[in-house]
Amino acid sequence: MARAQRPADEPTPPSGGKDGVARTDRALDAGLRPPRLDDFVGQPRTVERLRVMIGAARREGRTLDHILLHGPPGLGKTTLAMILAEEMGRPIRVTSGPVVEKASDLAGLLTSLQEGELLFIDEIHRIPKTVEEFLYSAMEDFRIDIMIDQGPNARSVRLDLPKFTLVGATTRTGLLTAPLRSRFTLQTRLDYYTREQLLSIVGRNAGLLGLDLDAGGAAEVAHRARGTPRIVNNLLRFTRDYALERADGKADRAVVAAALELLEIDRHGLDDMDHRFLRAMAEKHAGGPVGLGSIGAAIGEDAHTLEEVHEPFLVQEGYVTRTPQGRVLTEKGWLAVGLHPPGRPA
Ligand SMILES: Nc1ncnc2c1ncn2[C@@H]1O[C@H](COP(=O)(O)OP(=O)(O)OP(=O)(O)O)[C@@H](O)[C@H]1O
Ligand SMILES: [Mg+2]
Repeated sequence: MARAQRPADEPTPPSGGKDGVARTDRALDAGLRPPRLDDFVGQPRTVERLRVMIGAARREGRTLDHILLHGPPGLGKTTLAMILAEEMGRPIRVTSGPVVEKASDLAGLLTSLQEGELLFIDEIHRIPKTVEEFLYSAMEDFRIDIMIDQGPNARSVRLDLPKFTLVGATTRTGLLTAPLRSRFTLQTRLDYYTREQLLSIVGRNAGLLGLDLDAGGAAEVAHRARGTPRIVNNLLRFTRDYALERADGKADRAVVAAALELLEIDRHGLDDMDHRFLRAMAEKHAGGPVGLGSIGAAIGEDAHTLEEVHEPFLVQEGYVTRTPQGRVLTEKGWLAVGLHPPGRPA
């Protein structure tokens, strides 16, 4: 039987403290997830598409069609899945690709769903291929044929399923097979957030975390969050702790800068993997053009993961460009790792 899991930052029940009102920090942090579509900042195209589907399904009392959310980590895939359930007023069951090991796990999960329930499969690209094939008929015809017994007694049994909505999430859409991908009515991609969108998330969440952050501090957090709401939340939590320990609980631009300095997050919000990526291009390949396979070999990361998880931000921000010959480090990219582009005076 597949274990249905709660997402990592799903609310844990408040733990009654001595005063009876204390909540765990996790519960507080979980409160950072926007509960409804109206509270969800950014991703205007995705939000519009979801509004259309939710509106039509509700108008006709239908089960929502299957939806695939893809894009880099921390941009809101799990959050949107929870919002979909909330907006539809339906329960949601949560599991993830690697947990559904066998066809019988999937069958157990699917047959226990209620009509109209949502099934969220996180990391759906990690579902074993043998299990994936059962999803095809489950998604398309709401039935599965499973083999029971072995040898001469082996026979196939057809199970009818309640109409359900599969919400898949993946950072690696390239790893999904075409038959699986095509069974989602909507496949929608989440992109990095703009500075303004991040600023609005910073403002809301600093308040929820009880952090006294001024406008300069907020701008600094938004600037260094690598276009990613999850990073906003992490930076805010650390800044809150830093401000409590080192700055009388108040965070202005200088306090935020000092906190993030301690985390070794650079002025532009680039993290360790970004630095290794850019450095490998500069030091091992003279700035390119170089293929992702070679960069991956130099830093010990899979080329597809680099392509779908790490590179998009570097390209969007203009540290790296893609050319038919391979990736090329821009002047901004050289400078970000403290080096000078060749042919220029130091
Ligand atoms: N549009 C948004 N507005 C406000 N907060 C957001 C938004 N999107 C995400 N968040 C915050 O960022 C956190 C991370 O988002 P989420 O867990 O949904 O990312 P994800 O895409 O599922 O990442 P992963 O691929 O790692 O599973 C959430 O807990 C939520 O607080
Ligand atoms: Mg997630």
